[in-house]
Amino acid sequence: MKALHVDLAERSYPIYIGKGLLADCQRLLADKLNTQVMIISNTTIAPLYLDQLKQALSGYHLHSFIIADGEKYKTVDTYTDIITELLHRRLHRQCTLIALGGGVVGDISGFVAATYQRGVGYIQVPTTLLAQVDSSVGGKTAVNHALGKNMIGAFYQPQAVLADIGVLDTLPGREFNAGLAEVIKYGCINDADFFAWLMDNVAAMQQGEPEAIAVAVERSCRNKAEVVAQDETERGVRAILNLGHTFGHAIETAQAYQDCLHGEAVAIGMAMAADLSVRVGRLAEADKERIHQLLRLAGLPVQLPCNVTAATLGSHMAMDKKVKDGRLNLVLLDAIGHAVVTADVAESQLMATINAFMPSRASA
Ligand code: NAD
Ligand code: GLY
Repeated sequence: MKALHVDLAERSYPIYIGKGLLADCQRLLADKLNTQVMIISNTTIAPLYLDQLKQALSGYHLHSFIIADGEKYKTVDTYTDIITELLHRRLHRQCTLIALGGGVVGDISGFVAATYQRGVGYIQVPTTLLAQVDSSVGGKTAVNHALGKNMIGAFYQPQAVLADIGVLDTLPGREFNAGLAEVIKYGCINDADFFAWLMDNVAAMQQGEPEAIAVAVERSCRNKAEVVAQDETERGVRAILNLGHTFGHAIETAQAYQDCLHGEAVAIGMAMAADLSVRVGRLAEADKERIHQLLRLAGLPVQLPCNVTAATLGSHMAMDKKVKDGRLNLVLLDAIGHAVVTADVAESQLMATINAFMPSRASA
């Protein structure tokens, strides 16, 4: 097992990474859990792992609540259902919530934890690659609004993250690849050596080699923990973690969360951000090609889907949380391993990238 530390003074917490950790969670989480524990999961993950988690935590007064599966349920309605259940079961302020699931369960459970009775403790037990390398770490919690993704939320750190890479054995290949998008992101923004390692090892990860997966999860979490420790609430450097996300969130919102997975939308967004970085004279064409190559090796899309128009994409991008003083701030690359946040992009350059990624035009 590997143990990392997210260094945030009194809000610091451990990240445990390894195979078979679910069985050991009573020992690993002993100092974090209160006697009343509510496990939140969904209709796909609960049949696979809820009993295992409950058995491992047999010494606690356990409750569970199962939500519907899917990004389209990451809503205020689902949030309210969970709060109602907590109240019906009389969970008090010293309870602990456990999010057993991917990023959707993790984000919504975290937002419940941030707000239930003005805040209760919670633990992330991420079950997708994406959640293990990204969403479970860093304390961004949210639900979606019809007008925009993650528009209702809070920064609220978990008390621990327990990433059992064994649970990835049941994750569908397409979901695994979607998680690879966020892994590749760390290489692009912060870690050129990791990017090179991924070029050589992404196939081993897709074949389920536990050592390769453990290395990638640890390296990703280490990168994320370092950035979060510098800028917990995204006043500055943390924005680089959103490489590809302004395009990606706009794609997801335009499709009403029906077609592209989050990681797939981010992959397209990163391909577009690399293209735009070349257009504004920051990134070498050869680096853009390597990024597109690695995304393709990971089985990820690098062009816009047919059901998204340039106009809808543009209008959803204008709703992005990184719009400041009416100007869109974008995460671009100066090199593989070096991201910058800039508003210095002409509308014509942005539109040139969007048009180049329309399915009929894309050469990517
Ligand atoms: P997800 O939570 O929808 O999970 C993907 C699918 O895999 C679901 O159908 C789920 O039921 C299933 N699944 C999960 N674990 C499984 C397992 N072990 N075996 C079989 N099936 C399993 O999607 P995701 O990709 O994990 O997360 C995407 C969400 O995360 C988005 O809402 C995104 O906005 C959010 N996100 C948040 C942050 C953050 O910092 N908070 C960062 C990145 C993404
Ligand atoms: N996924 C972006 C962040 O955590 O800041």
